[in-house]
Amino acid sequence: MPLDIIIGAQWGDEGKGRITDLLAAESDLVARFSGGDNAGHTVSVGAQQFQLHLVPSGIIQPHTICLLGNGMVINPATLLAEIDHLNRLGIDVSPARLKLSPAAHIITPAHRELDGVKDLLRGDQQLGTTRRGIGPSYMDKAARSGVRTELMHDPDAFEAAILASMEASARVLELLYEHSCPDPVETAKEYRSYAERLRPYLANTGAILHDALVENRQVLAEGAQGTLLDLDHGTYPYVTSSYPTTAGALLGLGVGPGHIRSIIGVAKSFQTRVGEGPFPTELSGDAAVRLRGTGDNPWDEFGTTTGRPRRCGWLDAVLLRYAVHLNGFTELAITKMDILTGLKPLLICSAYDRDGDTYEDLPVSAAALGQVKPVYEEQPGWDESIWGAHFWGDLPPAAQAYINRIEALTGLKVNLISVGPERDQVIRRRNLG
Ligand code: IMP
Repeated sequence: MPLDIIIGAQWGDEGKGRITDLLAAESDLVARFSGGDNAGHTVSVGAQQFQLHLVPSGIIQPHTICLLGNGMVINPATLLAEIDHLNRLGIDVSPARLKLSPAAHIITPAHRELDGVKDLLRGDQQLGTTRRGIGPSYMDKAARSGVRTELMHDPDAFEAAILASMEASARVLELLYEHSCPDPVETAKEYRSYAERLRPYLANTGAILHDALVENRQVLAEGAQGTLLDLDHGTYPYVTSSYPTTAGALLGLGVGPGHIRSIIGVAKSFQTRVGEGPFPTELSGDAAVRLRGTGDNPWDEFGTTTGRPRRCGWLDAVLLRYAVHLNGFTELAITKMDILTGLKPLLICSAYDRDGDTYEDLPVSAAALGQVKPVYEEQPGWDESIWGAHFWGDLPPAAQAYINRIEALTGLKVNLISVGPERDQVIRRRNLG
């Protein structure tokens, strides 16, 4: 009953999409379990770049069935645009291949407006959300006033529910924030047309996954965002409104832990973050630009969803250890090793200093995380290109030493190492299972 789970071990953007793409080649089903179109996964196949926001990256492998789980929030306009885009690129995204949980929640244009206006009003306490309406949609879910995807089965009921939701949001927007709202009647009509197109995609995803696992078919759960953005366990309040951790995968798919075979934590060889919040190892100036890149390459550190430059810094092993413990990772994947080529020396944060005391574990709050100073250890760098490395033995000794140090600091094996943007530029040290 193999369930493999891919989880972002940092603040998102770790390169989960390409690890999913790799492991999807040997999976039957690939499922997303949390978040919505705030996510952005880029996968390069030859000259083609696939940028996905909602549809699991596993869709690029032609044999997979992909699922959007109950833990997700769905903007139907974005989902349809993505389906159309993928279909135009020759990728089959028919209802036979893509299944949408009836228990996911809908994002309306009013959710988007609310997201933007609420974050703006926080002034210098802004979270820097993606403005995709994620928080407000999850708020409605928790308040039990959300619209579930299941209503799309009945376009009349769906239109009425969207109208009621939009009218309620309009009152909040207008009375509380003096902000106009997109027209509820027009939106409800538009959403009805989305429902008519998306209805065939609705399927009992929990039951499909259960049956697949019982039949010993391989299921891959594809995380979005990252551990440090988890609503409960991340750097609150600078987090997203869902659970991008292992527990969130089970909750957001409706499967039990007994099926788990592996939990793969994906981390970049350095640290990045978009949006606000504490970041102990953040670099500024030339050093940050060196890690971020100019934006000319698709792999440079600019948000896939918002285009914002990502904040960059050295790898933080204290946070990585935290992610290992919290998620129960069974192994690690380290991405973007090639970006470190030519940087000497390399620094890894192995502990924090706070008022003269050294801590190897995470302080309790995000506020406290903002007050720590990283304690760095130095690793030698390397100059030779690693783009052509296919096996562990192809890596220069200094690159091996860097990975060995991550293993020593986390107590976990690094089984996958990406050394370039292409599909085959991944060193695999062990197969799953
Ligand atoms: P929201 O998810 O749009 O509410 O944004 C909340 C925080 O999570 C912000 O700091 C975003 O930049 C961050 N965030 C949300 N999705 C992603 C992602 O896919 N990658 C990286 N950061 C993200």
